[in-house]
Amino acid sequence: MIKGPFSYSGNKYRIWNKYLKPVMHKYQCVHEPFIGSGVCIYNSNGGGQGRDINPHVVVLHNVLKDPGLMDRVLSTYAEYFPDGCNAKDSYNKLRDDLNVLYMQHGLNNENAHMLYILIQMSFNSLFRFSSKGFNAAYGEKPFDPGRIEQHIKIAQDKNIDVVYGSYETLDLSKVDKQKDIIYFDPPYVASKFQYGGWTDQDEHTLLAYITMLDKEGYSFILSNTFAHRGETNDYLIEWSKAFNTYLIDMSYNAWAARVKAVEREDTTVEVIVTNIDGAFPELVNAHDTKYKTDPIF
Ligand SMILES: C[S@@+](CC[C@H](N)C(=O)[O-])C[C@H]1O[C@@H](n2cnc3c(N)ncnc32)[C@H](O)[C@@H]1O
Repeated sequence: MIKGPFSYSGNKYRIWNKYLKPVMHKYQCVHEPFIGSGVCIYNSNGGGQGRDINPHVVVLHNVLKDPGLMDRVLSTYAEYFPDGCNAKDSYNKLRDDLNVLYMQHGLNNENAHMLYILIQMSFNSLFRFSSKGFNAAYGEKPFDPGRIEQHIKIAQDKNIDVVYGSYETLDLSKVDKQKDIIYFDPPYVASKFQYGGWTDQDEHTLLAYITMLDKEGYSFILSNTFAHRGETNDYLIEWSKAFNTYLIDMSYNAWAARVKAVEREDTTVEVIVTNIDGAFPELVNAHDTKYKTDPIF
């Protein structure tokens, strides 16, 4: 099981296993211009390029190539959690110490090991920062060094190149039109609070970029939603008619299930759009009005 090096809201682990894996395994590289925790890139055959505008995400990927990372993870865990007791106090002390360094230097290769430990043990493995640093509470989660070790090995074996920047900085000259695929997993436009700030205009610009890639002969898959918490994405619905568009028939809980303030997500209509023909024979056409998107047309 390759889940990505850290837990991340909106990660594509479930749909990777169920739908994306058989398709993406036909390609050599999977490029992820919205990498997040990079579930698809770590599961790919040969790696790929990643981009993200969240600098913490980028550091967590890149530090996996630092040969001293695992030693730092293990020695820091042993130092802060010597007997497993008072784990909450130890967690808070480690978080305070990380945040002192964070305020001075930001997140970097010298302190990212502390964040790796904290994320694993935090409440629902939340990846949450404020201007004062990492602020997720202790969540009684076990420390899992094996997950970090596994991804260090993958980062050595596959050609994974993660760079801080927006999706359109992807280096297309390094994308093989025949052998590679570009997987887009942007923030959802109707998503009220996650990755705040993704606007209708951002969505339109992204879809125009993907149209350009299609014309140039690149293969792509886009994850998105036709409707989310009662809001519909009419622009996407129209745009996607030019491609193959499939319904993902599963409710999308993500981590929201455990957070009381969050509304139920029953209204989500999750789709996959792609220019690859016949890629998802088991999924239904999202534009076929007899399926569950009916009410939104
Ligand atoms: C839905 S998450 C991706 C999750 C990912 N597929 C995974 O498996 O974890 C969307 C990501 O896009 C990033 N993002 C937002 N705007 C971006 C932009 N303009 N360019 C690149 N990444 C962006 C966010 O920081 C977030 O990490």
